[in-house]
Amino acid sequence: MNKKILITGGAGFIGSHVIRLFVNKYKDYKIYNLDALTYAGNLENLKDIEDSPNYTFIKGDITDENFIHSIFEEYEFENVIHLAAESHVDRSIKDPLAFVKTNVLGTMNLLNAFKLCWKDNFEGKRFYHISTDEVYGTLGETGLFTEKTSYDPNSPYSASKASSDHFVRAYGETYNLPYVISNCSNNYGPNQFPEKLIPLFINNIINNKPLPVYGDGNYTRDWLYVIDHAVAIDLIFHQGINTETYNIGGFNEWKNIDLVRLLCQQMDVKLGKEKGSSERLITFVKDRPGHDLRYAIDASKVNKKLGWKPSVTFEEGLSKTIDWYLENNDWLNSVTSGEYQSYYLKQYS
Ligand code: NAD
Ligand code: TYD
Repeated sequence: MNKKILITGGAGFIGSHVIRLFVNKYKDYKIYNLDALTYAGNLENLKDIEDSPNYTFIKGDITDENFIHSIFEEYEFENVIHLAAESHVDRSIKDPLAFVKTNVLGTMNLLNAFKLCWKDNFEGKRFYHISTDEVYGTLGETGLFTEKTSYDPNSPYSASKASSDHFVRAYGETYNLPYVISNCSNNYGPNQFPEKLIPLFINNIINNKPLPVYGDGNYTRDWLYVIDHAVAIDLIFHQGINTETYNIGGFNEWKNIDLVRLLCQQMDVKLGKEKGSSERLITFVKDRPGHDLRYAIDASKVNKKLGWKPSVTFEEGLSKTIDWYLENNDWLNSVTSGEYQSYYLKQYS
């Protein structure tokens, strides 16, 4: 395996944990973090490793074709771990085209630049595309998504991710481009932007604001602690087999309303509030259009083939996550000022 790795979206939630893991663990690798620093990207997430000699930050947009080709010419990245994306379903409902641009065209630019750079010699090279379980659509009350489940995306976000997955596969079939793909369930943990369920609700409880549960709250997600996802990405990057897909999940299904109640209970204890006071903030609001009922991953392949399994229980991971947000109030305040306020009003008023 060659060691010059381009990681895209490294200033975001999952990307920052992947960058930290690789920079600290593989001192002889050169890690390049390409990120446009959208509302979701934040270099504060990487403060502790930014001066490491094996780490370089490149500010840039994956939708800029010329720029992407120029950095491949300059640095000759041997491997790509591609996480940069527009990642929030609610935003995709309001502005689907932004998702096509970054998630589909951006991925195409990376594939084309990688192909042009290495067309005569893909030996030891790899394009690792990070995707989501949402490409499989929705499950009913039973069953699990396996690597063989047909794609059936329902939101503009999941349709754009499905499209990018298909292009990665097509480049493998057509041009022998060496790739792996992983499809992961919902992540939670430190540094997640407070537009997603868990950090949004933590922030609202801190500020004594309503907790907007969509519909009846009986929607199910399979939650995974973000550092466990980063560990799975490390294993798949190094040991995964080209052209294969790996599903990653937490073996950890929760109905939204049950998760929110657990979160409220933990928050009451940590904030020294009267038992039940956070739960009183729960407010049932208009449902998300096209809301997928249930996601649940069969992660037995990555478990059996690569020996991966989650390292923390949900109760432990959630507790660590709340502690991180309570200890990093400045981070939370800085990302919820400015643009966030108008986003929040538009989404929840
Ligand atoms: P995020 O929104 O927190 O971060 C995305 C990062 O990409 C940000 O740093 C942003 O600045 C950057 N970015 C966005 N558009 C860009 C562009 N045009 N050019 C360059 N950089 C750009 O997302 P996340 O939750 O960390 O997700 C990372 C990846 O993992 C995504 O591909 C997502 O689809 C996938 N994924 C996420 C989850 C989850 O629960 N969050 C689950 C499964 C898969
Ligand atoms: P989210 O964190 O946006 O992830 P995804 O849509 O990718 O699964 O949402 C998780 C679940 O929580 C989903 O069923 C939608 C629900 N939800 C709410 O009920 N209220 C909210 O304010 C948000 C953001 C999500």
